[in-house]
Amino acid sequence: MSIAHSQLIETALHNAQAQRVELTLEQKEACKARVKALLKAKGAVIVAHYYTDSDIQALAEETGGCVADSLEMARFGRDHPAQCLLVSGVRFMGETAKILSPHKTVLMPSLNAECSLDLSCPVEEFSDFCDQYPERTVVVYANTSAAVKARSDWVVTSSIAVKVLTYLRGQGQSVIWAPDRYLGHYLRQQTQADMLIWEGSCVVHEEFKAEGIVTLKAQYPQAAVLVHPESPESVVAMADVVGSTSQIIQAAQDLPHSTFIIATDRGIFYKLQQTCPDKTFLVAPTAGVGATCQSCAHCPWMALNQLHNLADSLETGDNEVYIDPALISKALQPLERMLKFSRRV
Ligand code: 13P
Ligand code: SF4
Repeated sequence: MSIAHSQLIETALHNAQAQRVELTLEQKEACKARVKALLKAKGAVIVAHYYTDSDIQALAEETGGCVADSLEMARFGRDHPAQCLLVSGVRFMGETAKILSPHKTVLMPSLNAECSLDLSCPVEEFSDFCDQYPERTVVVYANTSAAVKARSDWVVTSSIAVKVLTYLRGQGQSVIWAPDRYLGHYLRQQTQADMLIWEGSCVVHEEFKAEGIVTLKAQYPQAAVLVHPESPESVVAMADVVGSTSQIIQAAQDLPHSTFIIATDRGIFYKLQQTCPDKTFLVAPTAGVGATCQSCAHCPWMALNQLHNLADSLETGDNEVYIDPALISKALQPLERMLKFSRRV
């Protein structure tokens, strides 16, 4: 990754950590009551990711919203009749909702909720790179800006990426993949597709360490290891199942194991414990203990979604997602291609 990208990510990380506020139990209860009343008054619905705080996931469920992976969030936001979507996640998720439903009001608890993958792939640089390989199909991860999506042929999320790349390989297409290098390497290994891979990474998943998992496995030899494919190859190599957040939750339900080591953001533990109350879940070790970990298995930008800013955003309408309509129509095509493909497989 270039020094400019690293600095951008460092600054965004620093800002995110400074913006998180600790709320008391009373404050949380008051915020929840405000959010419920405002959702009704505005005809809005919460569309939340599995990595957000458990309070927010529970509130989304209680109020008829959704808690899901990024593919399902996109579908839910598009198909739900509410004209106002409160997207609790990171910016690319809000932008995806807006691209798919341009006539709806899309609000976010914080517009500073970045993603290191998105930040590592500025559109001008990416576009110049693509221009050098006009014969290649451009496939980008959903964790990108609307402008990068608009420059692509396909958008994919982690839950459908292997299937799309398998399909493209079958069609004899060579590919540019951006921005996650680890997911890119995993896709290449799974599909043998001809891929040129961008050098981005996720600050959360990059911190998981294979040596730590080996040590934990020695303590819990019966545990199954479930890994998100944004993790490094050495971690992916230790997995019993590699998959998106929803695939990890499904695997925890399907496998006979009673203990799991989980290499993804610990926000997912809310749903894992809810769906498998009798099973034990352990966070995969990161470089965090006395080392350099900046995330420690929790996305600092997902953490910007807090109950008070859900309420504030609904009340003021301040954090609305805007995208240039010309960009929307371009970014819509590769997104719709993915959604159409997902109906067929
Ligand atoms: P999922 O699509 O698996 O929910 O992943 C989104 C994400 O940002 C993972 O870090
Ligand atoms: Fe982006 Fe990583 Fe956060 Fe997911 S966990 S939103 S990939 S920084």
